[in-house]
Amino acid sequence: MANAHNASTAPVSDAAASASMTATRGGIGRTMRAILPYMWPKSRMDLRARVVIALVVMVVGRVITVIVPFFYKMAVDGLTPAVGAEAAAIVAVPVLAIVAYGGARIMMALFQQLQNAVFVPVSQHAQRSIAVTTFRHLHKLSLRFHLDRRTGGLNRLIDRGTEAIGFFLRFTLFNIVPALIELALVCVVLTLAFDWRFAAITGVTIIFYIWFTFGITEWRTKFRRQMNDTDTESSTKAVDSLINYETVKYFGNEEHEAKRFDRSMAAYERAAIQAMTSLYFLNFGQAVVFAIGLTALMTLAGMEVANGTKTLGDFVMLNALLIQLYVPLNLLGFVYHQIRESLVDMERMFDVLEQEPEIEDASDAKALDVRGGEIKFEDVCFHYDADRSIIHNISFEIPAGKTVAVVGPTGAGKSTLSRILYRFYEVSEGRVTIDGQDIRDVTQGSLRDVIGMVPQDTVLFNDTIRYNIGYGRPGASQDEIEHAARQAQIHDFVVGLPKGYDTRVGERGLKLSGGEKQRVAIARTLLKDPPILVLDEATSALDSHTEKEIQTALNAVSRGRSTLIVAHRLSTVINADEIIVLDGGHIIERGRHDALLAKAGRYASMWQRQLEVEEVAEKLEALRDTGDVPADA
Ligand SMILES: Nc1ncnc2c1ncn2[C@@H]1O[C@H](COP(=O)(O)OP(=O)(O)O)[C@@H](O)[C@H]1O
Ligand SMILES: [Mg+2]
Repeated sequence: MANAHNASTAPVSDAAASASMTATRGGIGRTMRAILPYMWPKSRMDLRARVVIALVVMVVGRVITVIVPFFYKMAVDGLTPAVGAEAAAIVAVPVLAIVAYGGARIMMALFQQLQNAVFVPVSQHAQRSIAVTTFRHLHKLSLRFHLDRRTGGLNRLIDRGTEAIGFFLRFTLFNIVPALIELALVCVVLTLAFDWRFAAITGVTIIFYIWFTFGITEWRTKFRRQMNDTDTESSTKAVDSLINYETVKYFGNEEHEAKRFDRSMAAYERAAIQAMTSLYFLNFGQAVVFAIGLTALMTLAGMEVANGTKTLGDFVMLNALLIQLYVPLNLLGFVYHQIRESLVDMERMFDVLEQEPEIEDASDAKALDVRGGEIKFEDVCFHYDADRSIIHNISFEIPAGKTVAVVGPTGAGKSTLSRILYRFYEVSEGRVTIDGQDIRDVTQGSLRDVIGMVPQDTVLFNDTIRYNIGYGRPGASQDEIEHAARQAQIHDFVVGLPKGYDTRVGERGLKLSGGEKQRVAIARTLLKDPPILVLDEATSALDSHTEKEIQTALNAVSRGRSTLIVAHRLSTVINADEIIVLDGGHIIERGRHDALLAKAGRYASMWQRQLEVEEVAEKLEALRDTGDVPADA
């Protein structure tokens, strides 16, 4: 599990590296177009109003920010004795200017936070809608897509994609844009209060600052990436090792595990040191660039003050204006990096959103009209990948309410038949019909409504038994759930549990035994009450004793329904109306149990072999009961 996780991490970062190019160069327009409808939702006038208000608040906030140093200047000028006055002359405290300064600072803070508060419902709503849209879309995509991807990866994709949207909005709208507005305002103020040279020096300094920041951040990216990769790797190793706690003990390999973990932590350590050191360098470099610009401006201003053309107040105002501007600029490297990463993450999410489902309803698809549930495979050929054909020209029929069994070695294509019937995949040739209707001409929803599937490995939701059985038909009452559970012979077991139907089954249903899980699966299929039933090796993972118990349940379930059984143990198919022996995607024998035995062909020899195996197993069991053989023989 951890290895697969690992394997999926490496290409992710590679992809991120190359995708970041397109994201920052070409993809940004597309990404912006993709987010826009979520930011400016048609059906939510209230959110649109918020966007407008937030923008207004932002602009007002910036104007106030630029005004604050003015009050500072007034206070300083008020405290400075007029030229020519006695040096020791007593000056009045400029109370008004100082209070105005304090008030303006409060307003500045108020507007900054107000802008966030007004906007947060917009960005949260955008994140939620995009997450749900993506989630819906993922369920619409085909099985093939999901088998090719790891679920954890998809989950991360949504997580990171929506988080990226939050980041992106926050940083562009509330960091970059306001900083630019403030910069423009500062330049205007400097031109008005001083002259154009002040604005020009500020402009040049900032341009140089941005150039430096982006350049260094670009160069640092590889250290950060290494840091993230090594971090993922070491945590994967730790998780994997702890999951395998027992295995580690069996081999006494604690020391080996610790060394392995330490090696990957060492790699992280190296990468982290590089990443941090380069960050400190960036911070220092930024401060140097800014300080040089600031010094130049203050020298100019100092000269003017000395000339008497400007006051001391002007001098401190200049300083205050620029220091304020430095606050958003200081974060620029981080913001630049975050925006780039967000663009990549969003891009990846939108890529998935643009992916077309492989199997889509025909535009004129109708609901499947089931009369008896007669299923026909007509000359069906199928391949997953064009270079390897799996099913060769197969035809068979399950008359309404009858049972057909498919047996054969693993890899013969048995499960593939059930996936074709469920239309997880499209046939490459021939057709499959239900009551005369080609399954490609009906809606997938109506097709899947009438088919109940009990797979070999049932996976349950990490919830209660009630929830898992009820999943067969959301909204089913407790009585209906219990009725289904009785039919599946699991009711007595459930009520015997301390928490009864409220017992939680654990992740993937791991807290139940195989047989119990399978009966829960049967119960939920019963609750769905479909006219067509597919049992794909539903009992093969169970021991023969449990299987016999479940078989009774299954016989009851399949009565009156068209049933396709894929079976491993032949004893479960004796009563089938037809048995098809499949090998390598070909039908090699078919008929009823007795006829096939009489034929003394492949089926007969499979039967013979199973009898022998089961005899041995039964003898062993008998011996064990008498205590002659240790339990693990
Ligand atoms: N998603 C898939 N992509 C490619 N090949 C597959 C896929 N699923 C199954 N196969 C191949 O198709 C063949 C038939 O598989 P399956 O129908 O599952 O066999 P079984 O008879 O054991 O149920 C196997 O050789 C398997 O390797
Ligand atoms: Mg199978």
